[in-house]
Amino acid sequence: MLLIQNVTVIDPKSGTQALGDILISGDRIQKIAPVIEPPTGAEILDGSGLCAGPGLVDVHVHFRDPGLTYKEDILTGAAAAAAGGFTTVVMMANTKPPIDSVEAVRYVLNKGKETGIHVETCGTVTVGMQGKKLTDMRALKEAGTAGFTDDGVPLMDEKLALEAMAAAAALKVPISFHEEDPTFIVNNGVNHGKASEYFGIGGSDRQAEISMIGRDIALAAQTGCCMDIQHISTKEGVELIRRAREEHPGLDIHAEATPHHIALTEEAVIEHGTLAKMNPPLRTTEDRLAIVEGLVDGTIDLIATDHAPHSVQEKAKLLTEAPSGVIGLETSLAVCVTELVEPRYLTLCQLMEKMAYNPARMYHLDCGYLAEGGPADIVLFDPAAGFVVGESFRSKAVNSPFIGQELKGVVRYTICNGRVVYENPAP
Ligand code: DOR
Ligand code: ZN
Repeated sequence: MLLIQNVTVIDPKSGTQALGDILISGDRIQKIAPVIEPPTGAEILDGSGLCAGPGLVDVHVHFRDPGLTYKEDILTGAAAAAAGGFTTVVMMANTKPPIDSVEAVRYVLNKGKETGIHVETCGTVTVGMQGKKLTDMRALKEAGTAGFTDDGVPLMDEKLALEAMAAAAALKVPISFHEEDPTFIVNNGVNHGKASEYFGIGGSDRQAEISMIGRDIALAAQTGCCMDIQHISTKEGVELIRRAREEHPGLDIHAEATPHHIALTEEAVIEHGTLAKMNPPLRTTEDRLAIVEGLVDGTIDLIATDHAPHSVQEKAKLLTEAPSGVIGLETSLAVCVTELVEPRYLTLCQLMEKMAYNPARMYHLDCGYLAEGGPADIVLFDPAAGFVVGESFRSKAVNSPFIGQELKGVVRYTICNGRVVYENPAP
């Protein structure tokens, strides 16, 4: 048994925050109360000054396994997740080969079981992510996929997108979309505007995202599927989702914001080059603030990292040649505490809702909350402790635009299935 004493317990499901103790027995929370007498033999963890939230849930990570394990593998990706306070992740399917077969699903889920956290995966929507033919979504679901996505590439064929949504609806799992129409993109990963002008390149026009979000909302309305719009980057995208929610309150539409789109603008690409190149790109201050506003009013219900590891050699290439993507698992909580909680856009409880409860609910996962009888998946963090983001990570990759930045919010312990899977006690 493990007794966490004197900790601020934050439960986004009930919307409560109170000082107390948490008693863990096996992989379950046995009791939460203002004071719990230590049972004989229980291990004691002093939670003074710390907050206890549900283990964080990230519905958008790239672990590159199988096939691209020089960037990351499931074990190092999960270690990075644990260090960031995450106890559940949903892998994207753009591995090599992509997760479009029952064998690939089994490989990923089996390896995930070795990690100490919960590793879920999406399957691809189309065979080989080629956008031509749907995968056997039923077979993939039966093999254990949590949902479907061709994340990394947009699904351009409208008819196929509609069929995929209908199939996902029948299987009762979410389908997630990467919304970037290549027709509007000269160079991906860099906003068409100040940043593209600075580098003298064409960049990626905001219309790439706007047009596809518009299309997919209309398709989702026809199918009633559970749709997740991934990594929103534009104010128009936020507004389209806000309006869709108002006009069709019955629609099961979800939207993700990444920590980097919450915190940064295209100025970061000018400053950090390829380390701030990602798809969709960082855009303007107006877009950034619209994303924050979307989080505040509930239009955006999920924060997901899009943890996208790439090697140093790959990121050393020219801006137009280097791959898009940044890591995010180990800085996500701190970026969000610094950018959303410190300026009082969200309370810590609301942040836990976006980073744990809502993502778990979308995927029908029994986690993302703290309650007696519930899973002992817990993050213990100090929201007031400051630190400077260093250059080394649990991830194999170091492609972070936040290196050198001062942030608030330090993860002290991550507990998954009642076991401490990461610790970084206060000095
Ligand atoms: O920047 C990105 N990188 N965006 C994506 O959607 C995919 C990801 C990757 O796989 O590297
Ligand atoms: Zn994506």
